[in-house]
Amino acid sequence: MRNSQIEIRRTSGAVGAEILGVDLAHPLDPTTLGTIRDAFHRHSVVFFRDQDMTPAQHIAFAEQMGSIVVNRFFTPVPGHPKIAEVRKEPGQAANIGNIWHTDHSYDQIPALGSILLAREVPPHGGDTLFASMALAYDALSPGLKATLAGLHAVHSSRHVFGVQSGAAKRGAGRLKNAELATQDAIHPVVIRHPDSGRKVLYVNPDFTTHFEGWTKEESKPLLDTLFRHAARPDFQTRFSWREGSIAFWDNRATWHYAVNDYHGERRLMHRITLEGVALSAATESSSST
Ligand code: SIN
Repeated sequence: MRNSQIEIRRTSGAVGAEILGVDLAHPLDPTTLGTIRDAFHRHSVVFFRDQDMTPAQHIAFAEQMGSIVVNRFFTPVPGHPKIAEVRKEPGQAANIGNIWHTDHSYDQIPALGSILLAREVPPHGGDTLFASMALAYDALSPGLKATLAGLHAVHSSRHVFGVQSGAAKRGAGRLKNAELATQDAIHPVVIRHPDSGRKVLYVNPDFTTHFEGWTKEESKPLLDTLFRHAARPDFQTRFSWREGSIAFWDNRATWHYAVNDYHGERRLMHRITLEGVALSAATESSSST
């Protein structure tokens, strides 16, 4: 495939767009790069089909979008330490990412986004859901928005990837470095998106453990309310993979959820994660556009 007329088609009324007519395997001209960046900021997750790319070309595309940050818990693709494998074998029960989350929110500087390329897909199932956390925020009541405005939350990798979490057992060779899962980070509950300037709800069911200054017990009812609200189908899109499909999502603006409905089948994806910036509370006046 060579670049032809670029077309952008929304995949739901809420979030996501498919970009057609782009061949990502070759260096992109500034206009095409600008179009992809603009669609990414506008729709928070962009999809591409039928991309015939080597791992080196996957890396080269990612480097045109930002700087790569290596995930320390995922097993890398052999010979390509910058690419993480997201794998489920036919004999495995658990898949990776089967809970709403945003990648790397446990880092002090969370990842900007992830570029996931489908290498091997099951004959049915294995879709990924994405949800807009800007829409989730917008739909909160004024009273709850006011309550959240001053709050920060703690995000952790320990209970997900750490020694006590049993991740190594569940991940069966797909996850590593449990002893490095010591990161906790504190982020505003409502961030000002660094690029779009929109207010975004920044807590997620996988990594957010409690509000800063509150106990976990005190935090749970409000976090559960937010998680239930943000998981409404009204804020979502659903992507069905084919070999060569790519999803490029914004971790500051979305949650994602890998559906585990393809037991007995293999699914193999290659993921590259891009470095982000420190997140600011939406109440801070800087970057208000
Ligand atoms: C992930 O959570 O990063 C992986 C999503 C997927 O496999 O669909």
